[in-house]
Parts: sequence; structure tokens; C-alpha cells
Amino acid sequence: MGLPVYRDDMRAMTYRSYGGPEVLELAEVPKPSPAEGQLLVRVVRSSVNPVDWKRATGALRVIMPACFPLVPGYDLAGEVVELGAGVADFAIGDRVHARIGEHAGGASADLALIGVDVAAKMPEGMDFDVAAGLPLAGMTALQGLRDQAKIPLENAKERVLVVGASGGVGHLAVQIARAMGTTVVGVCSTRNVALVRELGAHEVIDYTQPDPYRGQAPFDVVLDCVAGDSSPFLPLLGPGGRYASCLPGAAVFARSMLNPLTDKKVRPVLLKSRAVDLQWLDELYARRALRVIIDSHFALEDLKKAWERSMTGRTVGKIVIDVGAGGFPSGDS
Ligand SMILES: NC(=O)c1ccc[n+]([C@@H]2O[C@H](COP(=O)([O-])OP(=O)(O)OC[C@H]3O[C@@H](n4cnc5c(N)ncnc54)[C@H](OP(=O)(O)O)[C@@H]3O)[C@@H](O)[C@H]2O)c1
Repeated sequence: MGLPVYRDDMRAMTYRSYGGPEVLELAEVPKPSPAEGQLLVRVVRSSVNPVDWKRATGALRVIMPACFPLVPGYDLAGEVVELGAGVADFAIGDRVHARIGEHAGGASADLALIGVDVAAKMPEGMDFDVAAGLPLAGMTALQGLRDQAKIPLENAKERVLVVGASGGVGHLAVQIARAMGTTVVGVCSTRNVALVRELGAHEVIDYTQPDPYRGQAPFDVVLDCVAGDSSPFLPLLGPGGRYASCLPGAAVFARSMLNPLTDKKVRPVLLKSRAVDLQWLDELYARRALRVIIDSHFALEDLKKAWERSMTGRTVGKIVIDVGAGGFPSGDS
């Protein structure tokens, strides 16, 4: 098999100022080179996460400062084409996936850099769509349930409410919580009730119905993938209950300061990319205990439309971006 040859430039979606999806433009940008401990990956699929377009608005500029032009996107799946110095556990041609580390981004391009500390080899039988959809949302769900809600990974006997059970994070949280052994109660709208049940929820609450939580308490854990306010959920928690929010705004941080004084705990979920967590999810996938629902596909040049779809807040599972073809090329990309 011949080694791939790349031009000095590559296609990338970029933006040069803060704004809505209209700031996105397709550009030719220089091909990146892997530094020590990095892999250069030919991206086959990427996936959209709300943080992509939230960051573009400038709302996160204090915690995620941008250096323009910026190539958005955190989730990718593809093939390794170059190794940085000191990389020992990966080889050219490996199929890998990752949530690009911390603030860098860069997945919306033909080629992207990932650190070996966040990269996992795709398990046998996993396709690129699933591999791109899993990292950010899956690790958020895992870290929210395990690290913030303090649920043991096995034989957990707790009753867990997943709010937003049909979304990118929520549909994976339902399955992970189920695999941990909990009793899972998913919250979604009428059109997604059958799906959430099929994903493994023992009970489903339709939030469009009047007074949806009446008679449903107590819960040991609430994983909130929709709102950043613990106040409606604290009364639903039993003794020792934990509320973890994937949208940790000021209210969540302020209430979490009271944790040492209160029986019920409120904790923010702040994702950290970790290869070991992605490998844990991959093992769950390999055991057929996890699947990734694909909401829709868009071509790289249609990233604007993909963001608009994500911004509706109505997606089911993950939006996948088709960047390149699978298979190891032997010519120009
Ligand atoms: N803190 C972190 O590190 C971190 C990491 C990942 C994600 N997040 C944040 O977590 C949130 C969720 O992310 P995501 O990727 O899962 O988003 P998403 O896929 O866009 O979520 C869409 C889903 O939310 C559901 N939904 C909307 N309103 C609802 C409600 N009132 N009750 C229950 N479900 C509702 C929708 O179902 P219906 O159409 O049926 O309503 C839809 O399926 C985002 O705000 C994201 O930015 C934070």
C-alpha cells in the first residue's frame, strides 16, 4: 500500500470573526504538521456539537479564546497519515477517533492534528459515522454520570433521570447509565418516546405532557442535558441525591458552592478529552451495549446548514459531517 501524498494546502471550513453560521467559509489553508506526541489524521467524518456554534458566537470567548482564522469542530474519525516525534503506539493507516483536546478544534478540515492522549483506535466493526459521533457526547455523558454524579461503573442500583434523552449527549447517557446497572428514566418529547425506550430507558417521561414529573420522584441522580438550573430538579432528588448539569452556568456554580453544607449535591459537567474514557466507550460499543444514533449527514462545505440544524435544538442523536472517503489513498487528497 503506497503512502498518501498531500498537497501543501487542504480544504477547511473557517471563520474570521464571531457570528452565526454565516461566518463560515470554505478555504484552502496550509496543511498542519504534527508536533511531538501528535498524529496528523486524514478526516473521514466529523460531527457537530452545540459548542461549535456557541463558540462561534463569541459567547465563550473568555474560557475559549479564539485565534482567527479558526477551523471549528472537535469530533473526528479518520486515518493516521503522519506521526509526530515520540509517537510509539500508533502507525500510519490506523483508523482513529477523538475529541480534539481542550480548545484547539480543527476537525472541519481534510487533515487535523490530535494528541495521542486523546486518540483511540477505532474498534473492529465501528464505522466512521459512529466513530465521529461518539467522542465528545459520549465522554460528556460518561464523565457526568461517573465523575460528577458519582455513579459506580458497575452494579449501580440507583434511579437516574436523564433530561434530554434523545439528544447527542442524552441518548448516549441513557445507554451508559443502563450499562452501569442503574434504573434509567429518560425525559424527551412525544416523538422520541419509542426511541428512548428502545435505547434502554426503563421508564420515559414525556415533557410535553402537563405536570410531567408528578408522581415520578425520588431520583438518586439527575443528569441535565437541557438546562443549567438545578432548582426544578432538587425537589425530585431523594436523600444524598446528585444533580449534574451539562450546561453549567453561574446558577449551577453558585449552588455547587453550597455542596459542603447540603445533603443534595449540584455539580457542573466540564468535559475533559481522555483517550482512556474513549476506549471505555469503545469497549461498550464492542459489547453491543452502546449505539450512536445519526440524526443527519452534511457535506463539509454544507457545515453552515449542519449548524443551523443543530441550533434548532431538535436533533435526535448526532449530526455527522462527511469530509472524505474512507480507505487509504495513494495520491493527492
Ligand atoms: N459542559 C460540557 O462539557 C458539555 C459537553 C457536551 C455538551 N454540552 C451541552 O449540553 C447540551 C446538550 O448537548 P447535546 O449535544 O446533547 O445537544 P443536542 O443534541 O442539540 O440536544 C437536542 C435534544 O434536546 C432535546 N430537548 C430539547 N428541549 C428539551 C426539554 N425541555 N426536555 C428534554 N429534552 C429536550 C431535543 O428533543 P426534542 O426535540 O424532543 O425536544 C433534542 O433531541 C448543549 O447545550 C451542549 O452545549 C456541554
